[in-house]
Amino acid sequence: MTTTAPGVPYSRTHHCGQLRPDHIGQTVTLAGWVDSRREHGDALVFIDLRDREGLTQLVFDLEDSSKDVVDGADKLRSEDIIAVTGVVRKRAGGANPRLSTGEIEIVVSKLTVLTKARDIPFHPNDPDNLPGEEIRLRYRFLDLRRPRMQKILRTRHTVAQTMRRFLDEKGFVEVETPNLCKSTPEGARDFLVPSRLQPGSFYALPQSPQIFKQILMIGGLDKYFQIARCFRDEDPRADRQAEFSQLDIEMSFITRDDIIGLISGLVAGIWKNTLGVDIGQIPHMTYAEAMDRFGIDRPDLRFGLELVDVGEIAKTMEFKVFSGAVEGGGVVKAIRVPGGAALTRKQLDGYTEYVKAQFGAGGLPYAKVENGAFATGVAKFLEPVKDALVAKLGLKDGDLVIFGADKKSLVNKMLGEMRLRLARDMNLVPKWGEQWKFVWVVDFPIVEWNEGEQRWDSMHHPFTAPRPEDLGKLESSPGEVLTNAYDLVVNGSEIGGGSIRIHDQETQAKVFKLLGLSDEQAKMKFGFLLDALRFGAPPHGGIALGLDRLVMHLCDTDNIRDVIAFPKTQIGSDLMSEAPSEVDEKQLKELHIASTWTGEKR
Ligand code: AMO
Ligand code: AMP
Repeated sequence: MTTTAPGVPYSRTHHCGQLRPDHIGQTVTLAGWVDSRREHGDALVFIDLRDREGLTQLVFDLEDSSKDVVDGADKLRSEDIIAVTGVVRKRAGGANPRLSTGEIEIVVSKLTVLTKARDIPFHPNDPDNLPGEEIRLRYRFLDLRRPRMQKILRTRHTVAQTMRRFLDEKGFVEVETPNLCKSTPEGARDFLVPSRLQPGSFYALPQSPQIFKQILMIGGLDKYFQIARCFRDEDPRADRQAEFSQLDIEMSFITRDDIIGLISGLVAGIWKNTLGVDIGQIPHMTYAEAMDRFGIDRPDLRFGLELVDVGEIAKTMEFKVFSGAVEGGGVVKAIRVPGGAALTRKQLDGYTEYVKAQFGAGGLPYAKVENGAFATGVAKFLEPVKDALVAKLGLKDGDLVIFGADKKSLVNKMLGEMRLRLARDMNLVPKWGEQWKFVWVVDFPIVEWNEGEQRWDSMHHPFTAPRPEDLGKLESSPGEVLTNAYDLVVNGSEIGGGSIRIHDQETQAKVFKLLGLSDEQAKMKFGFLLDALRFGAPPHGGIALGLDRLVMHLCDTDNIRDVIAFPKTQIGSDLMSEAPSEVDEKQLKELHIASTWTGEKR
């Protein structure tokens, strides 16, 4: 019997990934999407029926099914939705070991067409013929049917549930904080929302719940968490979206090591629950060491190519680029690249252009080690100090050595990036899943000097406390003050960060002043926090883990859009719903807003 009426009652007895030889002989009902259809003459049709759990093979033949049913199967197309009833039997054509249901098939006696699909732009279960990302995002409803997307969203769910269970068991309370907030700059640009009831005034969407969670501590909550949506009006990148999710945590009466211990346990649980991997103890590294050895505060520890300071040798050299850098208060650092002598002139020229354009470096001095001597590049300048360099860097035949000679910040940045680039180009980065190199980066400075604006900027955010032992240096030498801030890094990616906070009003006021905020500005922007700090704030601290980034690691993708159900493109568009869009004049009028934009729409 075939029916096509929508809404015909049926109830599933099993899902499409469930049936096994044990079920042979049972009459079952399944429902799902037509994944593929194969015809063998008029009288025999095979259909793979798909739901989120898997595929099941359906057989329609004139021996076992009525003509009506076989004719109905003939008319089915990919992505139609059907319900079928039939008997489970051993697969007549031999088992398919690639399917969990590959040992059985269902001989269909009843077919109900629940929905017809028309003109689908691509087939969601054909990984070899996927269209480009734009098309997939435009038709996200089809894209989400892909087994890979289903797997990612379910991994994301497992991660979120693991977080909730873990924290609930430890006495954390989940609290929601507002999305319509006061604009309190936290580093990135705010998204603004005009107020209708108070024309001319604006809310900001939260860059993170930072101040609210501190106020929850002052409010006596003791242990808070939330899977919070954060909004930062920055240009998206491969691992950055304007709208993203954090596991946000704050605790009272704790030390840095309490938080590090808690999160290490949580992350170990997540890796165990999703990948079955034991990550072991997570080592610590100071910010200073990370910058010295890797040039970056999120070191990828899966390969060598460390930065080595060769300033002591460089300052004795005739080569002015090197000796001059040291004399001018800068540094000279080198990276030994094993096997790098095989790189071509063209590749090396490409690197030179890259560091000049990207970092404003003067160049990329390099030399190869061949037959026990330096060759090409700056070889002639290095020869006089060869023994010292070989000893310091452990140079061998076949190596390349590259140098950075400039201000320390520039050299670290440039060689830090060159290290990553060389690792990729020389295939030194292990494949996904082979190594999980976690590290806690600790002891961040409280501020860093902003050369362009000639002022101190917060390294983390303005609420991070100076270490008690460094408090005395806050006014005299702020650049030397360290904090109990910490970042969690895995394979060179920052998946979380937090700190012990300031919990007294005087220190908070001092830090605002250091950051260039006048008393009035501080009061205007953060008055409620300064108030709250006067009324008995417990010592507290916390952290936020980037949920999207965690899931990226677990699902082997370097595209953050893959792990978000409805992501936005490089120019902030949702291609499916077509946001952002123009709005009615009337809506703008109500808000007392007029657009001054006269340029083209992007
Ligand atoms: P922070 O700004 O370091 O700290 O953010 C915490 C973590 O969130 C992730 N993350 C992002 N993920 C995707 N897209 C983005 N645009 C993005 N920005 C950040 C990162 C990062 O480590 N309130 C503080 C936390 C605290 O001090 O407790 C905060 O937001 O993985
Ligand atoms: P030169 O002696 O000018 O030919 O430079 C020799 C090498 O040093 C070249 O590989 C340049 O890329 C590099 N170099 C020149 N000037 C600088 C600089 N200011 N900083 C870093 N490298 C430089």
